[in-house]
Amino acid sequence: MTSLQLLSFLLLSCIIVSASTYEGEEEEALGSQSEHTTTTKEQQNLETKFRLYRDTAEGSCQIFVNQLETLDKCSFNASLPLVMIVHGWSVDGILESWIWKMAAALKSQHNQMNVIIADWLTLAHQHYPIAVRNTRTTGQEIALFLEWLEESVQFSRSNAHLIGYSLGAHVSGFAGSFINGTKKIGRITGLDPAGPLFEGMSPTDRLSPDDANFVDAIHTFTKQHMGLSVGIKQPVAHFDFYPNGGTFQPGCHILHVYNHIAQFGIAGITQTVKCAHERSVHLFIDSLLHKDKQSTAYWCNDINTFNKGLCLSCKKNRCNTLGYSIREERLPKSRRLFLKTRAYTPFKVYHYQFKIHIINEIQGKPIDPAFTMSVAGTKKDAKNLHIPLVEGITGNKTYSFLITLDTDIGDLIMIKFKWEGTPVWENIWDTFQTIIPWTKGTHRPGLIVKAIRVKAGETQQKYTFCPQSIDNIHLHPSQEKTFVRCEDLFQRQNRK
Ligand SMILES: *[C@@H]1O[C@H](CO)[C@@H](O)[C@H](O)[C@H]1NC(C)=O
Ligand SMILES: *[C@@H]1O[C@H](CO)[C@@H](O)[C@H](O)[C@H]1NC(C)=O
Ligand SMILES: *[C@@H]1O[C@H](CO)[C@@H](O)[C@H](O)[C@H]1NC(C)=O
Repeated sequence: MTSLQLLSFLLLSCIIVSASTYEGEEEEALGSQSEHTTTTKEQQNLETKFRLYRDTAEGSCQIFVNQLETLDKCSFNASLPLVMIVHGWSVDGILESWIWKMAAALKSQHNQMNVIIADWLTLAHQHYPIAVRNTRTTGQEIALFLEWLEESVQFSRSNAHLIGYSLGAHVSGFAGSFINGTKKIGRITGLDPAGPLFEGMSPTDRLSPDDANFVDAIHTFTKQHMGLSVGIKQPVAHFDFYPNGGTFQPGCHILHVYNHIAQFGIAGITQTVKCAHERSVHLFIDSLLHKDKQSTAYWCNDINTFNKGLCLSCKKNRCNTLGYSIREERLPKSRRLFLKTRAYTPFKVYHYQFKIHIINEIQGKPIDPAFTMSVAGTKKDAKNLHIPLVEGITGNKTYSFLITLDTDIGDLIMIKFKWEGTPVWENIWDTFQTIIPWTKGTHRPGLIVKAIRVKAGETQQKYTFCPQSIDNIHLHPSQEKTFVRCEDLFQRQNRK
């Protein structure tokens, strides 16, 4: 079992184990459920606790439905927007630390905002299937809360933004579908919406684009194990983001468990298991804290096409910004957006498509694609970039691939393209030279790199590079060639 499978296995086995132990207790569980409903009706005292986040030592202030004075006491301001954070399934029954980080990040960036934590721990700290069923109850309670705010202090639901993680994403969806009246909640953000018992369900039984005026989702842990994945794979929003393909996240490899233990103590193990799932949360927090480093994601059919660099267009709104500052656009159909990220905050990377036209003069002999590249920019250089080509280089073809850089290197000026010939290759190459008698020219045959075309996703700039020296264009093992910008040259040729 690979470590990646092990991780999804650990988390999924929690879910499965809790599912199987649950069966015997069904009756008791149902009993407590109906009991809970009667209490709700009589006392208007909901199971969900609405905690207004305050940037003070007390941390939060609880608002009770039908107790207007608690709104004043907590300084709820009905003329400001509301962001409600909804947590997910709880293994240990305490509010996870990301919740406070998210609340603090929202407040630090947008002081003019009410931040409420919807604490449904008593319903979420249950066997997974019970917690799943409780998502409806909690969704209904959030809907009641918003209806009450509307009646009592004229707070418009269209000013509400629910941010739900894991099961909390579906809770938010239910809140959106249970709320009475024709108007919808403003926005719902699903952070790696839970997969088990939701994948493949009808839109009414999970988070869906109908649940709010605008719905966005970030999928970060959809790696399948035994037909299940922790995060839902299917699109559930207007814009569905799949960072790094959505299956797994960089920096979450089990090898990092040691770093996590150093950082979090023994809790580091759970931290590692949840790492990719919770990455959705940290990507969102990152979008609040790094205003100048917003990540762009691009509409694409699948990750393989994206990895070839073929989807970096922003024409006709094909790209969007991940996180809080997304462009809110209601589309008739869910749109899958892809992007790469770093393993740590700030997560933003710069995406480039490279298209390299290579002619292999030794026809019929595919060349191992062991190339590296260095790129000089107006701000910085990027050195020794590995070129992610897998297929052998044959005849006369253009290769397209995606390169990401961690920093903004500015406008591209020059590229150095190197063939990392191994000694073995050198030998084979020399053998070729002696075997193959060439008479046509005086040059040693090699690879001819005719042109390199680059498209920068973040700036939508296009560049064309040509060999610096036209006399000596043949590339041999261990050799490096320099390419310079030649758009002008190309344009002049085109005009003729
Ligand atoms: C509520 O927010 C508005 C808009 O920022 C502000 O003008 C008003 O003073 C606030 N009300 C209270 C009670 O703080
Ligand atoms: C919606 O209306 C029904 C019927 O008046 C009511 O029972 C319910 O509590 C209301 N709110 C929600 C969230 O269901
Ligand atoms: C490579 O292919 C292009 C288009 O298919 C063709 O015009 C060109 O002559 C070919 N070059 C070589 C060296 O085969």
